Amino acid sequence: MSSVTPSPAPSQSQQWDVHRLPRAEGRNILVTGGNAGIGYFVAEQLAGAGATVVLGSRNTDKARAAMDSIRARVPGARLRHLRLDLAELTSLRSSAEALELDRLDAVVLNAGVALDDPPRKVTEDGHEFMFGINHLGHFALTGWLAPLLAAAPAGRIVTVGSFAARSERLDLEDLQSTRDYRPKRTYGRSKLAQMHFAFELDRRLRAAGSTVLSVVAHPGGALDSLTPSRPPVHERSAGDRLRGLPAGLLVQGKDAGAWPMVRAVLDPEVRGGQLWEPRVFGLRGRPRLAPVQGHYTDTEVAARLWEASRELVGSEPHFAAQESSTAATASISTS
Ligand SMILES: NC(=O)c1ccc[n+]([C@@H]2O[C@H](COP(=O)([O-])OP(=O)(O)OC[C@H]3O[C@@H](n4cnc5c(N)ncnc54)[C@H](OP(=O)(O)O)[C@@H]3O)[C@@H](O)[C@H]2O)c1
Repeated sequence: MSSVTPSPAPSQSQQWDVHRLPRAEGRNILVTGGNAGIGYFVAEQLAGAGATVVLGSRNTDKARAAMDSIRARVPGARLRHLRLDLAELTSLRSSAEALELDRLDAVVLNAGVALDDPPRKVTEDGHEFMFGINHLGHFALTGWLAPLLAAAPAGRIVTVGSFAARSERLDLEDLQSTRDYRPKRTYGRSKLAQMHFAFELDRRLRAAGSTVLSVVAHPGGALDSLTPSRPPVHERSAGDRLRGLPAGLLVQGKDAGAWPMVRAVLDPEVRGGQLWEPRVFGLRGRPRLAPVQGHYTDTEVAARLWEASRELVGSEPHFAAQESSTAATASISTS
């Protein structure tokens, strides 16, 4: 394993109040998969802080329902829908262009799929479903968003990782799980790939002298049965609530699952290369800074994954040095 710069010591700051967020008026923030689940609550909380939130969603009706629900709770919320399907890599350039923004202050790479059962599925582009959507889709999207993120005074890329990545290792010879497909393992590896990507991106951003930050956050364990209702986006019955009670000792709802990502976007003390997670065993509670250690620091695996991803996608995120916040440059390199 290669050596890396040690991650900063976990912050002891107790100042962060998930219910009293810093104001974010004037900031444009894209949340992939903002129409449902954790992404919905990230969007709701950021809109509550005054940000202009763009919900990246493949389904217009679901995005509309999510925006209606947020507006009912956050009067005057500034919201937009961006059509985004991470399974269609070739569509992502036009999705980024359709943003029609002069700058993007943050993107939360949240959308994700977790399949429970075989058989192995592939996207239209022929990539294994979870690796293709969770990792390759976000790798490609980040490339197309690079100029907009670099145009912001301090752009942030927040990658949603997972506890499931802790016990997995990538198989660089079989990134697409063609041999011995096991859905749970493939999911965990896709999340690990996303985390390696985010840490490698952080190293590249720093090397380039960019002001853009790449940060990882994960929600711990977040269950629908512990999540407050947001009809019609999510409805929890009294029965669901009762059945969820025992799990509530260990994990949490998707509203609380959103907290680490919201902090990673809004906390001015957040630095590139950090990992944010729920305080209680990394599974539930308020967000805390976690050490980046063990296989997460394997720069060689991360670099090889980056190279493989570049070849599969046909392009890579590229951020050049920034002379000032107004003269930022970034581009996507195609191969
Ligand atoms: N829940 C947990 O305990 C947990 C734990 C660790 C990490 N995570 C991570 O947290 C993130 C959100 O999880 P969740 O529990 O909120 O999942 P969820 O409720 O299933 O929501 C997933 C979101 O991703 C969107 N999505 C799926 N495929 C897409 C595609 N091809 N293009 C664009 N959007 C797509 C979905 O859109 P549709 O509504 O159109 O399907 C939905 O908005 C994921 O990255 C997941 O890996 C979750």
